Formats: sequence, C-alpha cells, structure tokens
Amino acid sequence: MSLHKTEEVDVLIIGTGLAAVSVALHLPADLNVILVSKGTRTETNSMRAQGGIASAYLEADHVSHQADTKQAAKGRTDETMISFITATGKQVIPELEAFGVRFDRQVTGAYALGQEGAHSRPRIFHSGGDRTGERIMTQLLQQLVHPVIEDTVITELLTNRQQVVGARGYRGQKPVVFSARAVILATGGIGGLFTASTNEPSLTGDGLALAAQVGAGLSDLGYIQHHPTILLHDGVSHGLITEALRGAGAFLMTADGRRVMADHPQGDLAARDEVAMRITTVREREAVYLNTTPVEHLQTHFPTFVEKCEILNISPDIVEVTTGVHFLMGGIKTDRLGRTTVPGLYAVGEVASTGLHGKNRLASNSLLECFVMGKELALRLQLPPRLPLPENQFKEDEEKVALDPSWTEALAVHLDETVLKQTLETFKNQPEERATGRDAELRRLHLMTAKLLLEGAIQRLKGDRQHEQMVSTTTA
Ligand code: SIN
Repeated sequence: MSLHKTEEVDVLIIGTGLAAVSVALHLPADLNVILVSKGTRTETNSMRAQGGIASAYLEADHVSHQADTKQAAKGRTDETMISFITATGKQVIPELEAFGVRFDRQVTGAYALGQEGAHSRPRIFHSGGDRTGERIMTQLLQQLVHPVIEDTVITELLTNRQQVVGARGYRGQKPVVFSARAVILATGGIGGLFTASTNEPSLTGDGLALAAQVGAGLSDLGYIQHHPTILLHDGVSHGLITEALRGAGAFLMTADGRRVMADHPQGDLAARDEVAMRITTVREREAVYLNTTPVEHLQTHFPTFVEKCEILNISPDIVEVTTGVHFLMGGIKTDRLGRTTVPGLYAVGEVASTGLHGKNRLASNSLLECFVMGKELALRLQLPPRLPLPENQFKEDEEKVALDPSWTEALAVHLDETVLKQTLETFKNQPEERATGRDAELRRLHLMTAKLLLEGAIQRLKGDRQHEQMVSTTTA
C-alpha cells in the first residue's frame, strides 16, 4: 500500500535556476505548474553567476556574437541554434528590464558593458557589478506566480507507453509522486560532484541520470569546461573569480611576475579552455596568481570578489588561482523547442545540449541560453492528454552504492584514456548493500552520472583521435 499522495500538475519543472524560471514566467498563469528545488530556490548556479549575460542588443546585428560563439566552441556546434540564440539575445535585455532587472550604466547613462574571454568586443551586460546572477534571479523569482516546492529531490521519471508521465522522489525524507503532462528537466550542472568547482554544491547532474534512465538521447558529455580562475587560499579552493576581472585589466602571472598568457594572441582574454589548459600546465611546476591592480573601481565593480578576499583576510591585489569544474557543454539532446527524444520530457539550461556551446562555451552565453530557450519552450509547449502513472512507483528494496570521490580526478583538464577506463572499472568492483530512501537513491543517481561522464570523456578522446587521423590522411 502506498503512503504518499500523488500531486497532479500540468507541468512539472525540476529546478529553479534561470532556465526553469524563464519557462515558468512564460507559461500561462492558469496552467497548473509546480517547480521543485533540491535545496532552497536560491541554491542555483544562475544565482552565483558573476560576469553577466552576453547580448548583441547594442550591435547592428548579432553576426559578430554568432562568430565569437562559434570560434570559441571549436566545433560540435549547431549553426542554426547559435544563430537563433544570438539573434534572439538582442531582445533579452529589454525583456529582463521589463521584469524589473536593472543593468549597470556609466555616468553618461549608457550601458556599462563588460568584456570576457574570446569576445571580440564588450557585450556583457551586468548588474550590481559582479552580482549579476543574484540580481536577475532575485527579481525574477519574486515575479513567479507558480509555486515552488523546496527540499525536494526527484529520483526517477515515471513512464507509460514510452512517454514520461510524471516523476517520483522525496520531499525532505517523505516520498512524493507527481503526475504531469510534461516534465521539464532544468537541473543545472555537475559541479557539485567535484571538490574544486564554481557550482552550487547540490548540483550533481541528476537530470542526466534521470534522462538516461528513460532512454533519452545524451550528447557530448565529455566536454566539461574548467574555469581558469578559482580562488585558492592555503590550498583550499574558494569558488569563482569572474573572468570579467581579466576583461577589466587583471592578468595572470607567476610569483616572479612572468605573464602566464604573454605569448597568446588574445593574451589573458583567450578562450576559456586555452587559459585553463595553460594554468594547469604552469601549475604543474609553480603557482599562478591573478594580479588585479590595473582594475579600476575594484570595490564597486567586483564586490563579490572583494568580499570573498575580506572574509579570507587576504589582499585582493594578488591572489592565487587554480582551475575548477564550471560548466558541462553537452547534456540531454534537445531540439529548438526543448524536446528530448522521449515524449513528455523536456530539458533546458545547462542540463540540455542545444549545440550552442560546442566543445567550449563562450563566456556569459549560459544565462542567455537559459532565458531564450526557457521562453521558447514555454511559448511553444503542446501538452498531451494526461496518461495514468505506472503501478508500484516505490520499489521496496533499492541497492545502496558507495561512490569513492577519487573518480573525479579522472576528469581533470588533461584527460587520459587509460585513467578514465581504470576508473570506470573500479565502479564495477564496488561493494553493494541493500537500502532504501532519499540518500540511497541520490547515491544511485550520482553513480550513474559519474559513469555517464567518464564514458563521455572516453568517447570524446576517441572522436579527437578519429578527427586527427582524418586530418593526417587528407593532408598526406
Ligand atoms: C565568469 O564570470 O567568469 C563566469 C561567467 C560564465 O561562465 O559565463
């Protein structure tokens, strides 16, 4: 006999970051919509975003934003999606302003635009200096008319005749079941699985495992973006230092003052993957520092960074940095309407793979993608009739799996196929015991996500090798 009550909704949105909220704000107010968040509604990567949101709003057209996105991506992109998102991005600034978001302006009244790696011109709109994500999300969350249920983890999608018809999980420790005509995964990134990361710790790639369980197509899981600048103090990482600081003049150097990016044509504003790779290589022999002394108005333009240094009781002028997991380029394969390959299941935001980011996301393109794709999904969503839920949503006996955190070392900036394969192999030999409940199910999702990421990285290396062979054959 089941002890839980089934909640009937039209649309279940899993997540409360910008993608989730954009969907909710653009769905009709009279639809029965629920958003669920794993922790509190503000525990999202969107809330933590610092640099800002890229938009060609002030440019004659979006063509140079499109070109920069493509160039930084280095392949594996969808040209139509890049064009669509960068072109639609021109409307995003006035739309966010209509929701009450205020972007920073100069004393002249003109927008104060930031610049970040691999952008050919300043086009990053920011709010409250480096508090952009917090400002946007605080404003948008206030305007939600649909309810948010916090402390709720979804552990399984429910299907009927190959269609997703709901989901089950736990609110606190209590089982919950939702019947839904559409389920939207907006679960964000994977950084919470890693020690050095810029992400919200509760974001552990659950959407990937949920989608994989129902057979949805996934792509490019081997492309993990490592952010070049995570603040390092006494050997402990303390989260993101925005790339916008380098856009404002800060630079990377060694202890004796040698510039780390000196020989790169784009210097400190090279594409993120190239800067992260360089820092990792240099750090194999010596420490790397960010020198912020050329930055004007550090206190007012970068309050998050300054505050972080104050808390650690260190000077913000020169800080040690390391790289850390920041963003997953691949994810659940979706089309322009956010549809996955499984009817009834949608994905949006970082958990989705739209083809915008290719192998390396252009800075500040993620908030843009979240807002644009969330709106597009909501405005074009066609709800199927409700189908009944399957019987026995809660199995009595789940397997408890242990996950040794050392697996994450295999997904470093420099990938090694042998290490990846050995790590995958260790999962097969882990002891298993029987258990039920929220924590056991979460561990099961984590293990599944870990396997997907390791397999994705192996696939990536294979693809790179095939590509190199093809190039050497055609040039021979
Ligand atoms: C940053 O502020 O450096 C991160 C921005 C982004 O990842 O788009």
